[in-house]
Amino acid sequence: MRGGLLVLGGSQGEHVAAQLAALLGAELGEVEVSRFPDGETYVRVLAEVEGKRVVYVNSLQRGPNEALVETLLTLDALKDLGAREVHAVVPYMAYARQDERFKPGEAVSVATVAKLFRALGLSSIYTVDMHLHRIRDPSALFGASFRNLTGVRELAKHVKRHHPEVLGKAVVVGPDEEAEQWARVMAEELGTEYAVLEKKRLSATEVRIEAHGANVKGKVAVIVDDIISTGGTIIEAVRALRQLGCEAALVACVHPVLVGNAYAKLLKLQLLDLVGTDTVLSPISRVPIAPAIAEALRGDLGLD
Ligand code: R5P
Repeated sequence: MRGGLLVLGGSQGEHVAAQLAALLGAELGEVEVSRFPDGETYVRVLAEVEGKRVVYVNSLQRGPNEALVETLLTLDALKDLGAREVHAVVPYMAYARQDERFKPGEAVSVATVAKLFRALGLSSIYTVDMHLHRIRDPSALFGASFRNLTGVRELAKHVKRHHPEVLGKAVVVGPDEEAEQWARVMAEELGTEYAVLEKKRLSATEVRIEAHGANVKGKVAVIVDDIISTGGTIIEAVRALRQLGCEAALVACVHPVLVGNAYAKLLKLQLLDLVGTDTVLSPISRVPIAPAIAEALRGDLGLD
């Protein structure tokens, strides 16, 4: 057991916390979370935290509003109970996509969420493949050393381990411009070319994708994206790639949010594989994110 390092998980982070503690050789503690009869969240830290370096893990996805309140209450309690350092690991950061006032009068939600974190005086915050396109200095915004890790290398390990037969004829595909960053990393890891498609969002649930001349004929497309929400982006990307003669498709995403009947719709595509990391728990969360987080913490906290 590594002296003084304690790992705790919230209601959406227990699975990652347990793996992290094992990977880091740290103590795993418990936090009790329940509801008051009126719906308010109750949090009680059961572990002894005074004087310790504490890593607290919680994702803000299944019921993001409640998860956010739970996370803020717990982190504040940890400080208040005398933890020497508090490091927050938020594998899925809610509200990150509303990072601008797209229409007059809208709340810039990520700025508000960041203010709440800033008030806690944390030592550091770790998240995974968060939308940071328009945020230049997340450490200043969130008021703590901020690291945006990637889950794409873990997804690439899965593809190499479980689908070695496709590597010779694979082309990595990012379904839209923003996905170029993830496609590039996946292509580097697999040693293949990558292509980026053009996406036009028609509404919150509808998109149109063009694959203009992507060289996918007779190839296996390894489509990679940060989030699958309604599944609309992936369904359109597969349609466009098949029109260009793509032989088969495999889909890998970091955050399998999968709202409504997205999973059922995606199953109909008859993909070679449909896989996500466990930043968000879903039927396709088969790739653990803990190794990527453990590696970062090991270096940053000097645990080597
Ligand atoms: C958006 O830019 C993201 O990178 C994803 O492509 C998007 O969130 C996927 O959403 P959906 O599954 O609803 O198309």
